[in-house]
Amino acid sequence: MKTVALGSQGLEVTVEGLGAMGMSAYYSGRDDEESAATLHRALDLGVTFIDTAESYGPFLNEQLIAKTLGGRRDEFMLATKFGFEIHDDGSRGAGVNGSPAQARIALERSLRHLETDVIDLYYLHRVDPNIPIEETVGAMSEFVAEGKVRYLGLSEAAPATIRRAHATHPISALQTEYSLFERSPETNGVLDTVRELGIGFVAYSPLGRGFLSGEITKPEDFAEDDFRRTDPRFSAENFDKNLELVDKITELAEAKGVTASQLTLAWAIAQDVVIIPGTKRRSYLEQNVAAAEIELSAEELDALDKAVPVGVAIGERYAPAGMKGVTI
Ligand SMILES: NC(=O)c1ccc[n+]([C@@H]2O[C@H](COP(=O)([O-])OP(=O)(O)OC[C@H]3O[C@@H](n4cnc5c(N)ncnc54)[C@H](OP(=O)(O)O)[C@@H]3O)[C@@H](O)[C@H]2O)c1
Repeated sequence: MKTVALGSQGLEVTVEGLGAMGMSAYYSGRDDEESAATLHRALDLGVTFIDTAESYGPFLNEQLIAKTLGGRRDEFMLATKFGFEIHDDGSRGAGVNGSPAQARIALERSLRHLETDVIDLYYLHRVDPNIPIEETVGAMSEFVAEGKVRYLGLSEAAPATIRRAHATHPISALQTEYSLFERSPETNGVLDTVRELGIGFVAYSPLGRGFLSGEITKPEDFAEDDFRRTDPRFSAENFDKNLELVDKITELAEAKGVTASQLTLAWAIAQDVVIIPGTKRRSYLEQNVAAAEIELSAEELDALDKAVPVGVAIGERYAPAGMKGVTI
């Protein structure tokens, strides 16, 4: 797996990482045993950038990673996130909390749950509109000075916020949803801003939360307790229209002799971003790892661009409450 620089501060990661969220939260079908095998297989296949957050569970996902990969801590780059109001017992407060006091609580808690002395990449998960970003990043900067965090990142921040944060302490990575299904970073200034400032871009949900694999064919394919049941893109009224886009990707994938998931991931890598597809299964992981080897010609990229142009997906990517927290 190819390694690339993420940002300009010295962090290097594999161009494809592993998103661990769905192993413990939001998506149904938890299976800790297969998830643990998947985490080990990722390292064995050279995927050494592992993405988690304290809110995944809360805490369960960080604990799973510590329990599973504790003995291999020097083999991977560990990224986690904070910024939601979460109490020590795992209960959630009102929403986001980017105060320096909460940042400190979250950092010490993540270090404990991850059973590590240092977090390689520490992200602010969501920007707190009530706390100046300089205060939050100022607190994060102290963690770097203390040697508890190596590099800083933001998630779902808007261009102006990214600039202010970067002026406070160099930001190495901006993590945001990005795929053929969600191309807003190309048009809302986010990609332009990170490129200008030398900040790395990490694309989350690069498979459109699994939808672009083509294996989800009706809203009921998501179990009752699955977060995607609340995603407007998968509502009964939008589902079929969006599925037409998946059919187009599948057609192009078949012509190339790869799967829709693989073509989708290869497209994202070709946009010069780092991707963190999520899976709790070794079989999907292996398929996704092979995607990083796929070369796409200018004609193939053009065909994908025409088949799934910017803005073509129908419906917001989060329900209204979630949309309030992104790109601010
Ligand atoms: N910063 C943020 O706010 C934020 C938000 C969301 C996600 N993330 C991060 O980004 C990571 C990835 O995003 P994501 O998990 O939401 O979405 P994703 O990577 O787009 O898709 C994950 C889904 O696709 C399925 N899948 C994976 N590979 C597949 C394949 N080859 N064929 C068929 N299905 C496949 C997975 O199934 P199984 O689970 O059954 O294996 C899972 O349901 C997360 O794990 C998390 O670390 C960050």
